[in-house]
Amino acid sequence: MTTYTEILLKARPTGGPIGADLFDVVTKTMPTPADGEFVVKQTHMSLDPAMLGWMSPDTESYIPPVELGTVMRGSGIGEVVASNHADFAVGDKVMGMFGWTEYLLTTGAGINKIDANIDPEMALSVFALPGLTATKGLYSIGQPKAGETLVVSGAAGSVGSIVGQLAKADGLRVIGVAGGKEKCDWLVNELGFDAAIDYKSDKLAEQLAELTPNGIDVYFENTGGPIQALVYNRMNAHGRIAVCGHIADYVAAKPAPGPNWMNIIRKRLLIQGFTMPDHFHEAPDLLAKLTPYVMQGKIKYRAHVLDGIESAMTGLNLFFTGANKGKLIVKF
Ligand SMILES: NC(=O)c1ccc[n+]([C@@H]2O[C@H](COP(=O)([O-])OP(=O)(O)OC[C@H]3O[C@@H](n4cnc5c(N)ncnc54)[C@H](OP(=O)(O)O)[C@@H]3O)[C@@H](O)[C@H]2O)c1
Repeated sequence: MTTYTEILLKARPTGGPIGADLFDVVTKTMPTPADGEFVVKQTHMSLDPAMLGWMSPDTESYIPPVELGTVMRGSGIGEVVASNHADFAVGDKVMGMFGWTEYLLTTGAGINKIDANIDPEMALSVFALPGLTATKGLYSIGQPKAGETLVVSGAAGSVGSIVGQLAKADGLRVIGVAGGKEKCDWLVNELGFDAAIDYKSDKLAEQLAELTPNGIDVYFENTGGPIQALVYNRMNAHGRIAVCGHIADYVAAKPAPGPNWMNIIRKRLLIQGFTMPDHFHEAPDLLAKLTPYVMQGKIKYRAHVLDGIESAMTGLNLFFTGANKGKLIVKF
């Protein structure tokens, strides 16, 4: 191949669905690595809800926005296809923030080799951002204890499904909140959750009360939305809430109001937001915690795979309609 495709962010989202109008699809000439450089062919690219935030002009967030006219930010897995670098050989499997591009010329900064035996879909679905996020939020903030009750929203998603399975393996009662019967059935029948609430059709307050007779000790928040206040009001004394995501508000014209802080005092709650870029240096410890659960077959996942780099431009919408079933990945 002498040319390849990369995708630049051309315009910022204005509230509607994400589409090709926000991007420039550019054809590039294949580079030749100079001394100390190598070329990666990206094979699998992760799509993440956070990408919408990265496209926005918000400079107050945890990571700077993607500059207009530059390659859209993204992480992925690839293979070294040409190398003039002492530490990276042709054939090495690597992971890093490659961006929305089929090929990347790099010096290797921020790029790590990965075990060639691990299936790339599993690597992105479990050992990359979803597993690191689930492990960090659950153990550092959630502090789960056997016998406690945990509720996780966005439960059928890539982060939420791992949170629930870890908690289940640790002996907690686990209630997932997800959209639609198919996802709720998957949580209970395939992943072994104790119960699941379909926030789109179940009677939320009644269901939650029925399924959490002893209150809630840990809440892993992935979505915001109406479930938030209901869970907040059922938190037990000394409960912990890990605030990981708020997808219900990412595309809302007006973010929902937060809960009254009174309960935080009455119940002595710990509520903490976290974002993984603050914690990537902890990845070896987080993987050491997560990997045994995976090896024991306690973590199942499903990947939702789109075909070809250009599918990323509309693929992001699947997060906001809930049409993604599992970790959203673009395969090149
Ligand atoms: N803090 C961090 O470092 C970090 C890292 C990774 C992810 N996150 C956050 O964690 C959350 C989950 O991410 P993920 O990658 O695992 O995505 P995901 O859960 O696989 O996909 C997003 C899901 O959100 C649900 N959703 C969309 N709109 C919703 C709404 N209005 N109300 C309730 N649920 C809604 C949909 O599932 P349903 O079909 O169930 O509605 C959709 O499938 C996101 O909020 C993301 O931003 C945070």
